[in-house]
Formats: sequence, structure tokens, C-alpha cells
Amino acid sequence: MGTDFPEGFRWGTATAAHQVEGGNWNNDWWAWEHAEGTPCAEPSGDACDHWHRFEQDISLLAALGFDDYRFSIEWSRIEPEPGEISLAALDHYRRVCAACLAHGVRPVVTFHHFTSPRWVAQAGGWHDASTVEHFVRFAERAVAHLGDLIGAACTINEPNVVAFVGYQLGVFPPGIVSDELFRVATDNLLAAHERVVPVLRSGPGEFPVGLTLSMTDYQPHPGDDPAAVARCEEARATLEDPYLELAAGDDFLGVQTYSRMRFGPEGALGPEDDVPVLPMGYEYYPDSLEACLRRAWAVTGGQVPLVVTENGIGTDDDTQRIDYLRTALGGVLACLADGLDVRGYTYWSLLDNFEWAFGYRPRFGIVAVDRATQRRTVKPSAEWLGAVALANSLAVDG
Ligand code: GAL
Repeated sequence: MGTDFPEGFRWGTATAAHQVEGGNWNNDWWAWEHAEGTPCAEPSGDACDHWHRFEQDISLLAALGFDDYRFSIEWSRIEPEPGEISLAALDHYRRVCAACLAHGVRPVVTFHHFTSPRWVAQAGGWHDASTVEHFVRFAERAVAHLGDLIGAACTINEPNVVAFVGYQLGVFPPGIVSDELFRVATDNLLAAHERVVPVLRSGPGEFPVGLTLSMTDYQPHPGDDPAAVARCEEARATLEDPYLELAAGDDFLGVQTYSRMRFGPEGALGPEDDVPVLPMGYEYYPDSLEACLRRAWAVTGGQVPLVVTENGIGTDDDTQRIDYLRTALGGVLACLADGLDVRGYTYWSLLDNFEWAFGYRPRFGIVAVDRATQRRTVKPSAEWLGAVALANSLAVDG
């Protein structure tokens, strides 16, 4: 197996509006951060002030060597009240796309990354069918204004996480733990993706459209125990397979993974002895990327090109980040050597940012942010990954 990636392989880095822009007070997450009794560590506040500093951030990622920037547009800014569209907000995102293009970077635009306007949440949120209609209408308006500048579009970020963490773990809004509402929300999210794909494809502009799925390397322990195997199968069947099946007709599938999960016959097992545990509470496990790419490829029957739309590590140890990346990218090379059509790798995240209920504690960024001054500091991992991107090869370690 070589160390080079195929010609045209794309290197990106990602953010999401609520995690970096700051001041997104009109969405369900801001409300959740400020509500009594939720598990949020702290409010998002000014975040990384990316709303004002996007130009500097885009020029930085371009200079590092990346050719894709994946970011999301904030529905609550674009449609602050039902049917009321802010052209100023849409124009802002036109400027973000234009800044990417001016730096030779492809804008990869996510239409929904976890947050919905407060009025959508009040009207019922994802467990109410009205949200599907509202989201389709929003996507129509947004693509009409931005489509000519979009390089690739992701419909809904990790719909399986929105449903699972919001309706089974109760850690994301609406924080209702209910099997029934989990099922309804899942169906609505699947329907929303299916409805929005043709909307985005109808342009203006011509760009690939896909969904981004949170995947986990589920591992039975012991490996041949039927009850443990059944637990893994159940998790995949509930959280991954309906989306993988739906993705079959898309232009690409975004694979996003961070770690593994081991299941014993009785249920989830904690981290294995001797495997480091990260600030997110899960194991350091960069091999999950290869496993998840292979599974996505197998379940979609090798019909849909894969793009790693998120992969990364929240750590204070930047050397550990480079080690993680080296192993994860080695897994991508192994997949490519076996003929999997993997088109790109996007690191989560460009910046240290607001990690949802965990607040600012886990540091996923390849660029540090001093939130008192908003000063950006490039970490060694950014230089390393940028060099890999420029060489299109893992052979950069000297
Ligand atoms: C993903 C999510 C991102 C980011 C990342 C790191 O699930 O899409 O917004 O938070 O995890 O945990």
C-alpha cells in the first residue's frame, strides 16, 4: 500500500454555524444552553466570532493547504420568524462562499447542522411533521439565493445524532426521552433529507448533494458471542442502516466518525483498559474511520462515492492529534487500495469551538482560539495536515 492519495482527492476542514459564529440566540440550542436543568456545561456566547471573522479564517485554511471548507448556514438567522426571510443573512453567506472561491477553496455548505429556529422548535421540532415542510421551504429559499456559489451541499448533519441524542439520551434539545418520539423524529429526518435532495439539485448551480452520517465502529465483545453481536446489529439497524439505504440515490455519502463502541451480551461496555479515554468520554480509536468507510461502502453496495465529511479528535495534546490523523488517514489509504471510492477527507474542526453540551472544554481544532481576544494560533497539527493536503500524500514525516 502506497502513501499517496489519488489525484483529485479533496482535503477539507469543517465548522458549523452555532459552534463558531457566536450570538445565535434565536435557535433551539441557545435556548437549551440557557434553560434550567439541561446538561450543558456553558453557553455558546460569542463562540469564535466567525460571523465577523470568516474572511480571516478562510484565508488561513486556504494558506494551510486545504481545498474544501465545510460550514453550515444558520436557519434561525435566515428565517428568524416563519416565512420571514433575511436577505441580509443570505447575503452574508454569499460573502462566505465568495471568500472561499476567492481563495481557491470549494464551499461545502450544510443546510442543517443541529440547530433549528426557536419558532420551529415551538411548533413541534423534529418530532412534528411540520418541521419537514418548514425545512423544505427554508432550503428552497436558501438555495435560490446561494446555489450559484455552492461547491457541494450536505442536507442534514448527522440526522441520526439529532434523533438519538435529542430523543433517547435527552442531551440535545428537545431533551425528551421517548422511544415513540425517537421513531417519529427519525422518520421525519429521513423524509426531510429525501425531500430536500431534489430541491438542492434543482439549483441554481450544479453541485453534488448528500447527507452526512454519524457512524461508529460497533464491536462485539467477545467477538463471537451471539448476544453481543446482536447488540451491535441492533445499534447499526437503528442508527445507521435506514440512512445508508436512503443515501443510495445521492451524489455522495458523508461518513463521520470519531471512535468505536464495544458491546457485551448485556449492553455497552466502557472503555477498554489501556486505551486512552478522551475528554469526550470515549476511547482514542482512530481505526474507526477505516471500519466505518468499509461498512458504508458495503451497505450502499459500492454505489455511492464516499467523502469523509468529519473525522477528528478533541484533545489538548496536539501530538496525539497528529498520531490520530496518521492512523485514520492510513485507514483511508487501505480503503482506497481495496477499490473503495473515497473522494476526500475533511477534518473536524478548523477551530477550537463550542462542543455542544460539553461547552468549550474538548478542543477539536487544528487552530486554537483565545476566546478573550479571538486570536487564532495555528497548531502543529494544522501545519502537518496542511502539508499532507499539499503533497496529497502521507509521506510528509521526513
Ligand atoms: C459531530 C458533530 C460536530 C462536532 C463533532 C465533534 O457529531 O457533527 O458538530 O461537534 O461531532 O464531537
